[in-house]
Amino acid sequence: MSVLGPNGAGKTTLLRTISGLVRPEAGASIRFQGKEIVGCTPYRIAKGGIAHVPEGRQVFPAMSVNENLEVASVRIPRSRRRERIDSVYDLFSELVSRKDQQAGSLSGGEQQMLAIGRAIVSECELVLIDEPSMGLAPIVVQRIFKTLKDIVRDTALTLLLVEQNAKLSLPLSDRIYVLSQGAIAMEGPVSEIHGNQMIQDMYFAKG
Ligand SMILES: Nc1ncnc2c1ncn2[C@@H]1O[C@H](COP(=O)(O)OP(=O)(O)OP(=O)(O)O)[C@@H](O)[C@H]1O
Ligand SMILES: [Mg+2]
Repeated sequence: MSVLGPNGAGKTTLLRTISGLVRPEAGASIRFQGKEIVGCTPYRIAKGGIAHVPEGRQVFPAMSVNENLEVASVRIPRSRRRERIDSVYDLFSELVSRKDQQAGSLSGGEQQMLAIGRAIVSECELVLIDEPSMGLAPIVVQRIFKTLKDIVRDTALTLLLVEQNAKLSLPLSDRIYVLSQGAIAMEGPVSEIHGNQMIQDMYFAKG
């Protein structure tokens, strides 16, 4: 799934609301796997299977790459942690040689890989990813989206991707939501939205 929308549309706020960091208006409802999650703490929501890769990729800068992954794995049984962490190194082999390096000293692209890796390690079912391409060189962005595509294809994970660059996010998406001023202006399967003239003009006109 992808969320599109101009700056300030409320995309980040939507993800922060789903993960319990922002309280919605009274009466609002967010259901995940049939359960109401409004009012749950961020901890409970994460434990319930929703991971959040925030805007600006937050990793623990003073910890090593491996420690960042270990911390993210504490919610799953000890017996599965090693395998899960290794699966992140398989997806992002760039991180292998950086295992013992402080996360704060990684390049932006490597930090984004680590931030996504932390979500994968937690054995969540839904990953909220906020603008993974932000501030990264196009070649690095291509690299990261290639792995996101692999994840969508090969795993049972659901991604909810906020991305200004629709050309990147649409190939990964089955459904699109267009946010405008805090509300959904349009939604539908990619096949329908892609043919919409307004969306074409807004997101595909150039290049
Ligand atoms: N549903 C809403 N109702 C009222 N205010 C909202 C709503 N959603 C977001 N806002 C406010 O709008 C502002 C911008 O929201 P937000 O940062 O979520 O936008 P964004 O789409 O992520 O923008 P950007 O593309 O710049 O990252 C914030 O001040 C937020 O508090
Ligand atoms: Mg945002």
